[in-house]
Amino acid sequence: MAELLAEMPDGLSVVDIPFGTGRFVADYLAKDFKVSGLDASDHMLVAAKDALGDDYEHCTCVVGDAADLPYADGQFDMLVSTRFLRDIVTFGAAKKMLAEFARVTRKYAILQLGHSFPKLGYPEDDDVMAGRLTKDQLKALLAEHGFRIKEMRLVKDDAEGQISHILCEKTAA
Ligand SMILES: C[S@@+](CC[C@H](N)C(=O)[O-])C[C@H]1O[C@@H](n2cnc3c(N)ncnc32)[C@H](O)[C@@H]1O
Repeated sequence: MAELLAEMPDGLSVVDIPFGTGRFVADYLAKDFKVSGLDASDHMLVAAKDALGDDYEHCTCVVGDAADLPYADGQFDMLVSTRFLRDIVTFGAAKKMLAEFARVTRKYAILQLGHSFPKLGYPEDDDVMAGRLTKDQLKALLAEHGFRIKEMRLVKDDAEGQISHILCEKTAA
């Protein structure tokens, strides 16, 4: 993630969903990004405030639902979403969230997603996506939601498939 962020232009507006404890905030601030965050849990945002100290004051965080974002179309240059769409929500919810993510970012997204463990079969809407998609299916899913893969960085490769941080560019609407 640090390497992908370092490649981005300085001064972007970024929204991190779900924000969690704001793991990447130091990297964002090093790039002079304007940082927003959303998480469903107010407790998590309190934990972020404790973990980040003064850096939290540079972030605009709200409680909300990733499937129904309280942001305008194209409000941000970039959206970051890690440890979420692959594992935490169902595939049906993940697709709704991807549509919302594509709506609110005008240029880039960095998404943590799994692939290359397709032996369980393509997910039903009430399955968790995990690594069930092949790399080509993942590419197609992102394309359907208006994202083109620019770069993929492997985070983990084990018995459950591969997990990557995927830098995407928005395609023309
Ligand atoms: C595993 S944590 C990941 C946090 C952060 N992205 C990271 O990588 O450290 C999952 C987070 O998803 C949040 N969450 C769960 N459902 C959500 C939803 N529908 N909308 C927004 N956040 C949600 C939880 O509160 C939790 O903070």
